[in-house]
Amino acid sequence: MQKLKTTSNNLIVSDKATISIDGESYDFPVYKGIEGDVCIDIKNLRSLSEGVTTIDRGFKNTASCESKITYLDGEKGILRYRGYDVEELAKKASFLEVAYLLIFGELPGKEELDKFHDDIVDNSIVNDDVKKIVDAFPSSAHPMGVLSSLTSALTAFNPNDVSLDYVRSKEGMYETIVKVLGKIPILVGWSYRKQNGFPLQYSMKIRNLDYTDMILHLLFKKPNDEYRPEKPLIDVFNKLLILHADHEQNCSTSTVRIVGSSHAGLFPSISAGISALWGPLHGGANQAVLEMLKAIQEDGGNTKKYIRKAKDKEDPFRLMGFGHRVYKNYDPRAKIIKAAADKFLKSIGVDDPLLQIAKELEENALKDKYFIDRKLFPNVDFYSGVIYRAMGIPPNMYTIMFVLGRLPGWIAQWREMRLMKEPIGRPRQLFTGSAPRKFKSKK
Ligand code: SDX
Repeated sequence: MQKLKTTSNNLIVSDKATISIDGESYDFPVYKGIEGDVCIDIKNLRSLSEGVTTIDRGFKNTASCESKITYLDGEKGILRYRGYDVEELAKKASFLEVAYLLIFGELPGKEELDKFHDDIVDNSIVNDDVKKIVDAFPSSAHPMGVLSSLTSALTAFNPNDVSLDYVRSKEGMYETIVKVLGKIPILVGWSYRKQNGFPLQYSMKIRNLDYTDMILHLLFKKPNDEYRPEKPLIDVFNKLLILHADHEQNCSTSTVRIVGSSHAGLFPSISAGISALWGPLHGGANQAVLEMLKAIQEDGGNTKKYIRKAKDKEDPFRLMGFGHRVYKNYDPRAKIIKAAADKFLKSIGVDDPLLQIAKELEENALKDKYFIDRKLFPNVDFYSGVIYRAMGIPPNMYTIMFVLGRLPGWIAQWREMRLMKEPIGRPRQLFTGSAPRKFKSKK
């Protein structure tokens, strides 16, 4: 085995890989990650082989970047943020502490956390003109589409955040970060409050409140009432936000990174991430799960029928909230959320039949060969909707709650990509289209 050497950016070269094409062989360095993950660096493949590239639909076997933020092991069901197990963080940390940890790499001391909190509050004010954009949307507009549009629109009111020099400076990057963490929850509050006819709140100037508590106020505080969320509500929401905070290079995070790699600002990069998360195969699954559970309930609650439908290739029905590109074991977040759902619903005296249906689906699926063979387990979206429902959040805002949790992860990944000076993302392709032909109009 070759002596371990490291590259200029401290990657451990553990071995070499040889690719042979048309009788020619090419060697490539093999890097080993901190947890033993291994990858082949093919950056010279095209130049060495005069044009050969690789193809990997959906990037199932392709690392898009080196990262120090989140580690997950899909086989073992491990998830760590900056080395801390998510189980421990969900139990002991505040969401704002975890946000700071993900973004800046270390847990904050009291002073750092207080300053972070106050800087977010001070930068949370949303310009009144943004409300004109909200008013232009029909009331039937899906909140995810509204939020993605408003997030990009914030660039118009914060022109600094797209200037390269500004974001290149440590202060500029920090200020853009606290603006995103301050303003997006205000916009989320607007989505909910508009649907419920409550007056909009323009800032988080409720300084003495923890970040999670402030978000609950932005959602639920009614005019002239002394809103005081109960501890079980604050605890379960804090846990949900932490569990959604980052998940390495998933679809929406990869979107944020690739948009940011063109040096687009943080607001437009986050806006693109919101759009990517919206899809039902990704974060939109939490809303799809609730709709699925309701449909099963209305159809008499026959879970075995729906397990059969999920297995039937002729049937478009999928068991939403089940399966994962990386986890081939129980998603550790789903385990925590399932227990939190039980505890929260009991604490507020709610007995939701949809939770029972979800548990029956899980029980039937986990002993079914189809699911066992394909290593399909409940993922983060399977039980979260039952909690949001008990919190009084409407289903079309469940993925918005996912956005609130994922904000620090998107920010951390975007910041890392910029600080590591990653090149602009520009994949190649395998062209199978038309051969050259001369133009002859058919008009
Ligand atoms: C998230 O990547 C992340 O980290 C995402 C996320 C994060 O925190 O950012 O964890 C959040 O997006 C969680 C996933 C939420 N999506 C859903 O719950 C939607 C339902 N699940 C699937 O559509 C699917 O499992 C995916 C999209 C999650 C993963 O799809 P893959 O990896 O492309 O796998 P696949 O679709 O090729 O499925 C492999 C096999 C197929 O059967 P065969 O062709 O081998 O016979 O498993 C089957 C699929 O038909 N399958 C399912 C299924 N999921 C996969 N069959 C029935 N029901 C399902 N849910």
